Amino acid sequence: MMKSEILSALRKKGDYVSGQELSEQFQVSRTAVWKKIKELQSDGYRIEAVPNRGYRIAGEPDLITAEAVESRLDTVWAGHPVIYLAEVASTNQYAKKISEEGAGQGTLVIADFQNQGKGRLGRTWTTPAGTAVAMSLVLRPRLSPLRIPMVTLVMGLAVTKACRELYSVPALIKWPNDVVVEGRKLSGILTEMSTELNRVNYVVIGTGINVNVTEFPRDLRDKATSVLLETGQAASRSELAACCLARFEEYYEKFLQTEDLSLLMEEYNSLLINRGRTVQVQEPEGNWRGTALGIDREGCLLVEKEEGSVEKVFAGEVSVRGVYGYV
Ligand code: BTN
Repeated sequence: MMKSEILSALRKKGDYVSGQELSEQFQVSRTAVWKKIKELQSDGYRIEAVPNRGYRIAGEPDLITAEAVESRLDTVWAGHPVIYLAEVASTNQYAKKISEEGAGQGTLVIADFQNQGKGRLGRTWTTPAGTAVAMSLVLRPRLSPLRIPMVTLVMGLAVTKACRELYSVPALIKWPNDVVVEGRKLSGILTEMSTELNRVNYVVIGTGINVNVTEFPRDLRDKATSVLLETGQAASRSELAACCLARFEEYYEKFLQTEDLSLLMEEYNSLLINRGRTVQVQEPEGNWRGTALGIDREGCLLVEKEEGSVEKVFAGEVSVRGVYGYV
């Protein structure tokens, strides 16, 4: 019996659960249950213990520990196991290191604070302590490396859906991998992979979400937002992380069925903020403009040029911008 199991049992009941009940459910002694309750209390969970009634959860801190995430997780493989780090340079960097050492598909690295978070295109990513989600999921797909950029889109869709489902925020996707609300960035995704010849060794998909962040660095102030800023209410980071993983697992299975986005593109396009808008495509060879039409089954953004031709923009290292601002 683990702390996460007790936590979800108490949460599920929402009322007193007797020590007897818990000890029977998990096939351990009542003393063992009591020990775990003590540990949870010292982690910061407010658990009331009343003689003859049992235990009741009266308050939860917003932790993102392995127990906190596992107690909310209902996935088959995504997030098994969860590796929690109070502080790390970058969860992507850490996940790549343990992947080199053999970490399996589904391993999740999650940190409360990143002191050297990485963004796309060499940018930095800020994860302040206690208020954000920074997590990296290890995948080991038997696919051509050319298909991997599509996984970023799968995660973008998962995060967007999770935010809508849990908090009713009108989250949309900015192709290929940002989640935005009212034109401000809520989440970013950075996918990295290791390949050998034409084979994928591992993929690390890193997701950063501004959950209860209220202060952004000056240069981001009008470009970034958080769940708290959008809803006026603090959200549970572990609940959001677990929901993103559940949605990701579901969508990723669909992606594997066809090895492309055939089964997901309709939903993706319905949530695509760029659709119908003028975008500036920034490519190493130069920038150009057109109207975004939506993605195709390979995850390319179809952009119509002024003269009517439609170009496919590959979801690799390019970025699209709105002409008048970030989206
Ligand atoms: C971007 O929008 O540029 C991508 C941001 C990705 C940030 C996440 S936070 C977890 C993981 N670890 C990192 O260092 N980066 C990703």
